[in-house]
Amino acid sequence: MTEMRPVTEAAAIKAPTLPDAQTVTQVKHWTDRLFSFRVTRPASLRFRSGEFVMIGLLGDNGKPLLRAYSIASPAWDEELEFYSIKVQDGPLTSKLQHIQPGNEIILRPKPVGTLVHDALLPGKRIWFFATGTGFAPFASLLREPQTYEDYDEIVITHTCREVAELEYGRQLIEQIRQDELLAELIGEGFADKIRYYPTTTREKSPRMGRITELLRDGTVFRDLGIEGGIKPETDRAMVCGSLAFNHDIKAILEDFGLTEGANSDPREFVIEKAFVG
Ligand SMILES: Cc1cc2nc3c(=O)[nH]c(=O)nc-3n(C[C@H](O)[C@H](O)[C@H](O)COP(=O)(O)OP(=O)(O)OC[C@H]3O[C@@H](n4cnc5c(N)ncnc54)[C@H](O)[C@@H]3O)c2cc1C
Ligand SMILES: NC(=O)c1ccc[n+]([C@@H]2O[C@H](COP(=O)([O-])OP(=O)(O)OC[C@H]3O[C@@H](n4cnc5c(N)ncnc54)[C@H](OP(=O)(O)O)[C@@H]3O)[C@@H](O)[C@H]2O)c1
Repeated sequence: MTEMRPVTEAAAIKAPTLPDAQTVTQVKHWTDRLFSFRVTRPASLRFRSGEFVMIGLLGDNGKPLLRAYSIASPAWDEELEFYSIKVQDGPLTSKLQHIQPGNEIILRPKPVGTLVHDALLPGKRIWFFATGTGFAPFASLLREPQTYEDYDEIVITHTCREVAELEYGRQLIEQIRQDELLAELIGEGFADKIRYYPTTTREKSPRMGRITELLRDGTVFRDLGIEGGIKPETDRAMVCGSLAFNHDIKAILEDFGLTEGANSDPREFVIEKAFVG
């Protein structure tokens, strides 16, 4: 049991001692709407790369205020990383955005989720489709050795409104390409399997447009030199974005002949919400 170091003054009034407290070790702000942070990992926590947990803070009423968060770090990492939105009037993130190293957050150690390798049938190429903070589970899976053991090619697409919103993902992939520990864990040259495909929709960038449109008109396949599009025999996909995005990508994948899987019923693609609403 650890005593919570409160983030807000209001919480300070009656900060009780809580189980499930973890200490913030690093915080990085990417834009006025996005930040990432790392916390200590409970010794007992086991999870599969791609899963999510409930995290939060003590609310002003002294009760835990929890939300679902994808773990952005891989299963082998000794700390846990998260990549978060800042919703200015959001009950949790209006406060969470002010955390600093040394503060504590609540982390319920019960990981769940569908974006796991076990939920897919074996394949040759895997597609990770993300919008916004939907990149988080792929930040975990891109650092997971099994991703490279199971597939010859990993295509990660990330669509955001603005260029700055791509930066967390862009830097992470650049770091992965140079990471000696990962090369040791996974094997030299592992990063050559990554095909990174970022697009923006509202600010000018080298690749513009919703990924859904670029898949439908074949631009993605032409850009990446992939013949014949997405094939159910060889291609697998994981999807994480808004409800509308997930719905539209699902329709596209089904048109290509892929079917949706689950932990209990592995198939060709799986989907997780990046947020509700
Ligand atoms: C399975 C799952 C995994 C999630 N993983 C993450 C994650 O890794 N990182 C993360 O930032 N959020 C994630 N979320 C969303 C998260 O649970 C909260 O909704 C978010 O932290 C905002 O909390 P809040 O209390 O401030 O506002 P809420 O009351 O929860 O949300 C207010 C409104 O803000 C918008 N919103 C909420 N979350 C987001 C978001 N991530 N991106 C864009 N708009 C959003 C929605 O319109 C929502 O109605 C996940 C949600 C689910 C269901
Ligand atoms: N990002 C901001 O600057 C901003 C600022 C203030 C408030 N908000 C609010 O915050 C919420 C979340 O914003 P967000 O930008 O993080 O997430 P978002 O609205 O889900 O958009 C993220 C990216 O996904 C694209 N997208 C959305 N729906 C799609 C679909 N059905 N198919 C394919 N691509 C799709 C968007 O393209 P499009 O641009 O074409 O939609 C955008 O590039 C929204 O309710 C928004 O109103 C956002």
